Amino acid sequence: MYHLECVSCGTTFPADEVIYTCKKCGHLLAVKYPLDTLTIKRATWNKRPISVWRYRELLPVTIPPVTLQEGGTPLYHLERLGKEMGLKHLYAKHEGMNPSGSFKDRGMTVGVSMALQLKKKSVACASTGNTSASLAVYAAKAGIPAVVLLPAGKVAVGKVAQALMHGAKVISIRGNFDRALEMTHDLCLSHGLYLLNSINPFRLEGQKTMGFEALDQLGEVPDRFVLPVGNAGNISAVHKGFMELEELGFIDRLPKMTGIQAAGSSPVVRAIRENLAEVIPEKNPETVATAIRIGAPVNAEKALTAIRKTGGIAESVTDEEILRMQRDLARKEGIGVEPASAASVAGIRKLVETGAIDRDEKIVCIVTGHLLKDPDTVIKQCEPPTEIDADLPSLISALHL
Ligand code: F0G
Repeated sequence: MYHLECVSCGTTFPADEVIYTCKKCGHLLAVKYPLDTLTIKRATWNKRPISVWRYRELLPVTIPPVTLQEGGTPLYHLERLGKEMGLKHLYAKHEGMNPSGSFKDRGMTVGVSMALQLKKKSVACASTGNTSASLAVYAAKAGIPAVVLLPAGKVAVGKVAQALMHGAKVISIRGNFDRALEMTHDLCLSHGLYLLNSINPFRLEGQKTMGFEALDQLGEVPDRFVLPVGNAGNISAVHKGFMELEELGFIDRLPKMTGIQAAGSSPVVRAIRENLAEVIPEKNPETVATAIRIGAPVNAEKALTAIRKTGGIAESVTDEEILRMQRDLARKEGIGVEPASAASVAGIRKLVETGAIDRDEKIVCIVTGHLLKDPDTVIKQCEPPTEIDADLPSLISALHL
């Protein structure tokens, strides 16, 4: 029904082979469906509730899925912030409204289902936090053990709390995410755990549905689709999904795929700016947006193609710009997101100010994770609560009334 294909040399592999990179050249793999023989009707999709599984004909799972009703996240029109920036058509899709509070659930409902379909007994991932939280949740639902590797001291507390509470074996390594991923990959190859980082082509299949949903919610193809970029899996996944819709004749153009990175961790931005064939890894990535504190994005190859083929852009934003947008989304739109998530909208503010994008564009920004993921960064930016004696005069005085 579908197979795996190397994105570089085109070698194909059967769908039931447990494999993460091309055996011939070592490059990334993608799931390929026989789109010309599939009979998918948009009307059929439209009759189903908006969720990851609305699009099941374009997903690899053939068993009853491990699901917690992920997807179906709101698409908000950012009226106030859009007005400030001079944009009439600025939207944010709040992926923090997924079961574990980030877009990773779209990938994990598919990835953990595939683990069962492929008869794997345990799962593993390296993570800057959200992937580990999501894997722990879906492994719990599936009833299989999960191992997660985190960079010690660099994961927001809400995410660690989730991974622990949902029962994953949580390992903190004295090293960064990039090293944690190498170790997890080696562990999976040597000990047979199923690797659920975004190098896993099946997990990315679930993530592409955020693009499908945004199109369905907007009722048209936006001019631009903007995502924060860390390991670069998400931007690649959404682009692949749009290409499939185009091949099926459901859309006639693709949005300009636009990736935003944190300034201290921006190898993809550099590769696009300097027109490099591949990214040069950053040895010591640093940013307040710990979710995207990644120096060697494993999906960079796919992401560079996505940005270049669609005429998109890659831009970086400083920690200050990220935090300012986190506060603006919270206070001017009522949308609570973690720092990495604010990067997409902060990037748009910057691109509008520098004149790099047109103010008439219809823009969808993905905001990737919930505010409560990283309460420490929130508390640091806000005035502490005013503590008073428990009487009315003290209250009136504290409110300066
Ligand atoms: N936003 C958030 C909140 C994330 O957690 C991540 C990635 C991204 C954006 C970037 O997505 O990696 O597909 O480019 N978090 C991963 C993790 C790395 O381990 O949770 P990407």
